Amino acid sequence: MLVQDLIRKKRDGAALSESEIQFLAAGIADGSLSEGQVASFAMAVFFRGMGGAECATLTRAMRDSGDVIEWASLNLPGPVVDKHSTGGVGDKVSIMLAPMLAACGAYVPMISGRGLGHTGGTLDKLDSIPGYESQPDIARLRTVVRDVGCAIVGQTRELAPADKRFYAIRDVTGTVESIPLITASILSKKLSAGLDALVMDIKCGSGAFADNPVMAGELAQSILAVGEELGLPTTALITDMTQVLGRSAGNSLEILESLNYLRGDNVDPRLHTVVTELGAALLRLAGLVETEEEGRTRLQKGLESGAALEILGRMITALGGPADFVDKPENYMPPAQVIVPVYPESAGIVNRIDVRAVGNAVVELGGGRRLVTDELDFRVGFDNVAEPGQSVDRETPLAILHAASEVAAVRASEQLRAAFSLADQGSAAEVILERVTAFPD
Ligand code: URA
Repeated sequence: MLVQDLIRKKRDGAALSESEIQFLAAGIADGSLSEGQVASFAMAVFFRGMGGAECATLTRAMRDSGDVIEWASLNLPGPVVDKHSTGGVGDKVSIMLAPMLAACGAYVPMISGRGLGHTGGTLDKLDSIPGYESQPDIARLRTVVRDVGCAIVGQTRELAPADKRFYAIRDVTGTVESIPLITASILSKKLSAGLDALVMDIKCGSGAFADNPVMAGELAQSILAVGEELGLPTTALITDMTQVLGRSAGNSLEILESLNYLRGDNVDPRLHTVVTELGAALLRLAGLVETEEEGRTRLQKGLESGAALEILGRMITALGGPADFVDKPENYMPPAQVIVPVYPESAGIVNRIDVRAVGNAVVELGGGRRLVTDELDFRVGFDNVAEPGQSVDRETPLAILHAASEVAAVRASEQLRAAFSLADQGSAAEVILERVTAFPD
């Protein structure tokens, strides 16, 4: 088979056969497809799409580019579960939810991604913890999950390596926003983790890849259908991404916000709703609780008892991070050189936020990648980000900016001001937009 013929076939709108898709996925994983060919294939799928069967075949082929983790021989006393988000700005839910689920008796091998396009990645956030090994081999991952209850890690060469390379190339070639490519990317990782149940957070709004409810609904349906086809019980919530989730956007800033959350300090109510609703839906899907209400109560107990924070601390240590990280994170994550408030040009109420532009400003500050090979500056980003409905003026900033230099700070301040529309009124959108559950009510 010639790769260029398969790219032309997809470019011209035809469906690819199973063997053709397997050939492409294998070539993406082993590097025999060049970066240009992978990007062209991604662009062809972006414009031409894929049928449901083609998408399921791509997902399976990407899963089979590596190993599938086996859990049965460990005789774990609870189900193996995970949550995954389609990506947003300030989306730090995984860092809190993994230990909260573990505190409820679930086992969570969370295979996360790096930043993608304008969105941040859980793995990049965890890499801001010195010593944390975000890509352990499968044996270590299994041990940490068994002993601690959760491990948030990235793909290694063993786990869906086709997605690892495909994801990195899509990130920098404008080919992220494709329903079949997002579906195959997410589910190939999740299937390789050998899960019993998955909850999906489908982000919708200006900071999401699905920027409108129609696309978010189609993405949810695609993920649920392929999940079912490949034997992974999945449920989904469509959640709001018309504002930064929580108060911060930027790698180490989001780790700090997550630790505060687990300590019950300065908890952002919208973030809390997303964390607990996803958690409750997953606990129910996995059979750990009878009702979502019971799930919410169990999650809250894990927070209030300090169990979730303790589990996060043990996970970080088990993966090579400092033993006292959760108690003294500031000892390990130095602040950015320049920290300044960004004020609006004039007073007003936040009416609308171009959240993608906020994410792009974090990328430009050095918190995300423009090239596959870029090194990140973990310290940069925004915190105390204003939300729709909030009054801002010459004394109440839009956000606090963390930058590596004065020049970068000036540019990012302008980008942030341009991203905010002020008016006489404004209000936040609902947080949970739709539940696409596996349980008809
Ligand atoms: N998250 C992923 O893992 N992959 C995508 O393509 C988008 C979000």
